[in-house]
Amino acid sequence: MSGFDTTWLDLREPADHAARDADLLETARKFLHAGGPSPLAVDLGSGTGSTLRAFGPDGQTRWRLVDYDPRLLEAAVSRLEGFPQVERMEADLAHLDPAVVADARLVTASALFDLASQELVERVADLLAERKIGLYAALNYDGVNRWEPLADGDDEMLAAFNAHQATDKGLGTALGPQAAEALRAAFERRGYEVRVAPSPWRLDDGQRALETALRDGFVAAVRETGRVEARRIDAWQAARSTQLVRSHVGHWDVLALPKA
Ligand SMILES: C[S@@+](CC[C@H](N)C(=O)[O-])C[C@H]1O[C@@H](n2cnc3c(N)ncnc32)[C@H](O)[C@@H]1O
Repeated sequence: MSGFDTTWLDLREPADHAARDADLLETARKFLHAGGPSPLAVDLGSGTGSTLRAFGPDGQTRWRLVDYDPRLLEAAVSRLEGFPQVERMEADLAHLDPAVVADARLVTASALFDLASQELVERVADLLAERKIGLYAALNYDGVNRWEPLADGDDEMLAAFNAHQATDKGLGTALGPQAAEALRAAFERRGYEVRVAPSPWRLDDGQRALETALRDGFVAAVRETGRVEARRIDAWQAARSTQLVRSHVGHWDVLALPKA
């Protein structure tokens, strides 16, 4: 099991969809369809299929959802009405088999590569480059969290959180905030045309439930690092829970396409 539950994924999806760079998404869509009818897109770390819903049903694309959490793949079924051709594949990306990307025109991912190691990025880049498959990887966390108003402890808490982001999440030492840059460099080295674009969350009081869940996860991660005294964490959390807060969480989208 992955530790990502449907409640969290459902909560973040509207913010993710609003944040995705529209131009990169549209270019990815065009690339997907430029190769012929009924293209295959493979979504790595699919969860319940947020990326499919971002692309939207088009009556042509065949999708392969790949995740190691069977509960999320099962939950995808009721969330993908209107997508007639969806294959669900249970697989651990830590042992990425070429069969996962077989016959794909485009590989997609969202909120995945910041969990991945440099080795996995290189492995994905090798597999895709050998087959001239495109990559659209959205919502890679970049280490930036800004809250308004500022509060005592923000910098200390963020430094600890970002250190936690770079720990092993099951895919080797995680790239965390370096993920987008690692993808860009890996695919450029293999001759791909790479574009990146920011896709930050901008949250305000209208997204109180997401903000609260995000803060709870953030605080839990900081506690795990042992880098910040418990009383300082408690004080920061208490202050943040009572304030009206606007926040910015930085992400980047990456689109890497093989040159014609
Ligand atoms: C942050 S969630 C993102 C889910 C989905 N892409 C989205 O945007 O809603 C990360 C996903 O990666 C999956 N994942 C994490 N480690 C994995 C691994 N080693 N193999 C396969 N899937 C993995 C999790 O189960 C989860 O669905």
